[in-house]
Amino acid sequence: MKEKINSIKEEINSYSGADSESVEFFRVKYISKKSLINDLFEDFKKLSVKEKKELGKPLNELKTLAKEKLISLSIETSKEGSDDNKLDYSLPAEDDSIGSLHPLRIVRNNIIKIFRDIGFSIEDGPEIEEDWYNFTALNFPKNHPAREMQDTFFISKDPDIVLRTHTSNVQIRLMEKQKPPMRVIIPGRVYRNETVSAKSHCFFHQVEGLYIDKNVSFKDLKDTLYYFAKEMFGSDTKVRFRPSYFPFTEPSAEMDISWKNGWLEILGSGLVDPNVLKNCGIDPKEYSGFAFGMGIERIAMLKYGIDDLRLFSENDKRFLRQFRGAH
Ligand code: PHE
Repeated sequence: MKEKINSIKEEINSYSGADSESVEFFRVKYISKKSLINDLFEDFKKLSVKEKKELGKPLNELKTLAKEKLISLSIETSKEGSDDNKLDYSLPAEDDSIGSLHPLRIVRNNIIKIFRDIGFSIEDGPEIEEDWYNFTALNFPKNHPAREMQDTFFISKDPDIVLRTHTSNVQIRLMEKQKPPMRVIIPGRVYRNETVSAKSHCFFHQVEGLYIDKNVSFKDLKDTLYYFAKEMFGSDTKVRFRPSYFPFTEPSAEMDISWKNGWLEILGSGLVDPNVLKNCGIDPKEYSGFAFGMGIERIAMLKYGIDDLRLFSENDKRFLRQFRGAH
């Protein structure tokens, strides 16, 4: 065995060859399970104690030698210029996969920045919500159609737990635990039980706004939203308010912006209904406020000329790639 060890040692030391084939050959011959060295270890088991004492060390050294040699051969192989690793400069470059922000994220960030600049802070709240926060505290009458099955995804009945249908639930959560004055916006995902099509989806995103203080009036609401529209859509954007209805605001208004040759509805808004303030333990004689809610998808569709809501959630790279560099 001693001779075998020595001769293999010599072979290894003089082994040369720096392409991947000869490295692999080396590995199989000296390192793998079927290698010469492995065979020697098998034979070693059968030796007497005395022989084992004598041969254990050289055998282990041989194994180490082989491993080190394999490493140095591999390094040599991977060095530029070795036969095996010549780069083919004529190959087309790989498509670099620089990511991009999702268009909904871009619009969301823009909205946040616009309101942050005038002192609004950002809050969020749960998407799985109790009936109280999504409906009851927001002054929805018990038989209001929005509570019916076709609009709302129910997680459970009695107690009613729903996927929130709007971000207005967070208004209640904040007013319950914070004292006015408060000036917040709340971006988030909302859910409605609707058939998915180009124009409607079972989930989408909103940004809610809430401003509560002493003497907040409809003028404050209009000023704030005028400012928003001009920042978001350009300084010559015109704005109009149309009377509307939401259970939790009184009066309520929808805001349209001038777009191409007409008007487009962009958000719902109003002064917070005194009942809602009361439900949250805020005295409506002392405080008043306004709230608004807008859909992020809708604004993204306008800004980028997107005509199908489904594109936002399909993760089609050809769609997403177009927003590279946008922010
Ligand atoms: N929550 C309303 C909706 O989803 C929007 C809204 C928010 C209206 C706040 C008024 C005030 O349609």
